[in-house]
Amino acid sequence: MPAERPLRVADATVIVHPDADAASRDAADRIARVVAEAVAARGKAVLGLATGATPEKVYDRLAARVADGSLSFRDVTTYNLDEYYPIQPLDPLSYRSYMHRHLFSRVDLAPNRAHVLDGTVPEHAAAAHAAEFDRWIDADGGLDLQLLGIGRNGHIGFNEPSDLPVAEFAARGTLPIDLHPITKADAVREFGSLEAVIPRALTMGVRQILAARTILMLATGPKKAPIVARALKGPVTASVPASVLRTVADRVVWILDEPAAAELG
Ligand code: PGA
Repeated sequence: MPAERPLRVADATVIVHPDADAASRDAADRIARVVAEAVAARGKAVLGLATGATPEKVYDRLAARVADGSLSFRDVTTYNLDEYYPIQPLDPLSYRSYMHRHLFSRVDLAPNRAHVLDGTVPEHAAAAHAAEFDRWIDADGGLDLQLLGIGRNGHIGFNEPSDLPVAEFAARGTLPIDLHPITKADAVREFGSLEAVIPRALTMGVRQILAARTILMLATGPKKAPIVARALKGPVTASVPASVLRTVADRVVWILDEPAAAELG
């Protein structure tokens, strides 16, 4: 099997793996390492987690490591990036139930330390709930690691392309948001039709993402190649949200497979 290929794109650290399995294994190993180091240093680890198709294999690897005793979530607290809004947690399409299926039910994580934004919060309380989410993360000392995927429009979490100046976008807290047309089109895979896609969400803001002490961006498959190249080689702009990761390049590792890296040159 060909080995991984470290790549330097502008200031970014990029690691290209032969396939999605190898990329996912690398991401899981890095998460396990951060957990071990943070627990050793301060008795706990705080992880920011992502949903979508890409991280499923990462969660499989983490669950396998818990099963073989090489990892424990006993001292871990998690915060998920986003949730559809409104949605019931038991709806199989909610990110709360995604996390239950793929990770929470398979590891020794305390239920009251697994935070997912609440899709049932009333409209008038949504902004306050979002602000509270940021206060909880801050009170936990911030994120030791944030796992990210990238949307075909460059979104991170549900921080969709925006006209805001970069500084304002980068400082934005957790908030309710309208989904971008490309995000809705991609969500048809889960919802079955465009009409059925829930058009709004609550998302962690860019501020918390950029403040994470380690950021892992995992992108696999040929459909991600154009946006990965734009995010890494185009201008740093809120219209390509993932490009803003380059403002904290020393804390970000891009973990790609060869198809997702195809347009990096
Ligand atoms: P995907 O989603 O893993 O399902 O491609 C990535 C994202 O939108 O962040």
